[in-house]
Amino acid sequence: MTADQTITKEIQRRRTFAIISHPDAGKTTLTEKLLLYGGAIQLAGSVKGKATARHAVSDWMELEKQRGISITSSVMQFEYEGYCINILDTPGHQDFSEDTYRTLMAADSAVMVIDAAKGIEPQTRKLFKICAMRHIPIFTFINKLDREARSPYELMEELETEFGIGTYPMNWPIGCGQEFKGVYDREKQAILAFNEFHRGQSKIRAIECTLDETEKLDELIGHRLRETLADDIELLDGAGYDFDIEEVRAGRLSPVFFGSALNNFGVEPFLEHFLKMTMPPLPRTSGDQIVDPMDEHFSAFVFKIQANMNKAHRDRIAFMRICSGKFERDREYFHVQGGKALRLAQPQQLMAQDRAIINEAYAGDIIGVFDPGIFSIGDTICEKGQSLCFEGIPTFAPEHFASVERVDTMKRKQFEKGIQQIAQEGAIQIFHEPHTGVEEVIVGVVGVLQFEVLEYRLKSEYGVDIRRRAMPYELVRWVENEDFDIHKLNLTSDTKWVQDFKGNNLLLFTSSWCINWALQKNEGLRLREFNRD
Ligand code: G4P
Repeated sequence: MTADQTITKEIQRRRTFAIISHPDAGKTTLTEKLLLYGGAIQLAGSVKGKATARHAVSDWMELEKQRGISITSSVMQFEYEGYCINILDTPGHQDFSEDTYRTLMAADSAVMVIDAAKGIEPQTRKLFKICAMRHIPIFTFINKLDREARSPYELMEELETEFGIGTYPMNWPIGCGQEFKGVYDREKQAILAFNEFHRGQSKIRAIECTLDETEKLDELIGHRLRETLADDIELLDGAGYDFDIEEVRAGRLSPVFFGSALNNFGVEPFLEHFLKMTMPPLPRTSGDQIVDPMDEHFSAFVFKIQANMNKAHRDRIAFMRICSGKFERDREYFHVQGGKALRLAQPQQLMAQDRAIINEAYAGDIIGVFDPGIFSIGDTICEKGQSLCFEGIPTFAPEHFASVERVDTMKRKQFEKGIQQIAQEGAIQIFHEPHTGVEEVIVGVVGVLQFEVLEYRLKSEYGVDIRRRAMPYELVRWVENEDFDIHKLNLTSDTKWVQDFKGNNLLLFTSSWCINWALQKNEGLRLREFNRD
């Protein structure tokens, strides 16, 4: 095999996806079961960084230790049946932050975990929006069928009406809760049986039987459930969406799987179907150029910067998604925004729980490299002589705001430097009120924990104590029209006009009602939820 063929083969077997969910839907449990299949972890219960468990990146900050949670998202790589799989974890609990959104920029598809009793929840909604913006394929795993669940029809209808996508159930649940008997695989026309006997183990019986084999089915799942199943399948085949892989790949049709992650039920069939349907690394755009992932030339973009892994040095790790070609440890690459050739130092990858220095990596992979403070989110790295610049990562609307000032008035320089650096890493966004002469900085974050991170880091790294005052705003919109005279805007009294550090105009609102007011009272005003500058 030539070197080029090896590169293509390696890239083609990569699958890079994010798992998204509202807290407690079962994302961690599902991830863990997926890793078990890949042999990446031996023990269930080791993914979550609760108080005792070790988390891949959780030892970098005391704040994390105190709370027993992980603030940072991680990437896990494992092998399964010839595929090389990269799972991007999207932090969800209190550690929900802009990083969670940015991680989705590095994924080629998303798996959305939904609690069968709850349906769509607020965080699912927010994350879905970002996936939809990128038109990436979305696979749905409806979890916890071993508990009382809402009707599968209702759940699918909710997905369709709220998210505006089609759904195609790959399997169909037979009962739920105490009565949960398993799922019917529509493609194989076989029943995957779940019974008390197998609870908590991975020995699940796949029973080949068509819906016409009534006697066998009656024995297996009972007469009533058999009849319901036959009716359901007839209805789905007749009235449901047709399966169309192109629609799936365009993000318009979501294949739906029912199962129970905790019981490891339906996880392996999900993984198998998923791997067949999802795609190898997707092309990315650079200006009007499409960068083919199979191109032998290395290129990547930075989607996350993690500060102070080692507190003794003020170092950072820049995580980048490889978009094309092969990364080699000892080669020199070109940092487009910095205009400099450089070697990417200490390249590392996370293999389930372990962080390892790597010598090579391929398109689809995520690597973390030592960052002496030169990278920013969205930066492009490529081979020398290539002229590439990947589309930047949007700035996402923060949802919590506070005004922040230093306690010690003498520490102005440290305060400004610290807050600007932390903003540059993308942990917070900073705004100011134009023409007021007020020195306060308005800080916006996606998850409230980032306020504590800011406070902690300003004190421990820059020696600055701050006073923080919560502000009542919940929504922010960028003003799209550059020619609009902001002074003339007709706004509710509780709407605030601010600017970001690039001078973009934004409006802070306390409710969506106020946004509607602004749009209605100011003809021609255009507002944006993301910013791409
Ligand atoms: P998350 O990452 O989405 O936040 O959810 P996580 O996997 O931590 O699961 C949340 C809770 O739901 C956990 O229980 C987990 O055991 C449970 N769970 C996950 N999948 C299933 C399922 O298929 N069926 C049932 N019945 N429960 C499920 P916990 O008590 O909060 O935590 P733990 O003490 O079990 O860790």
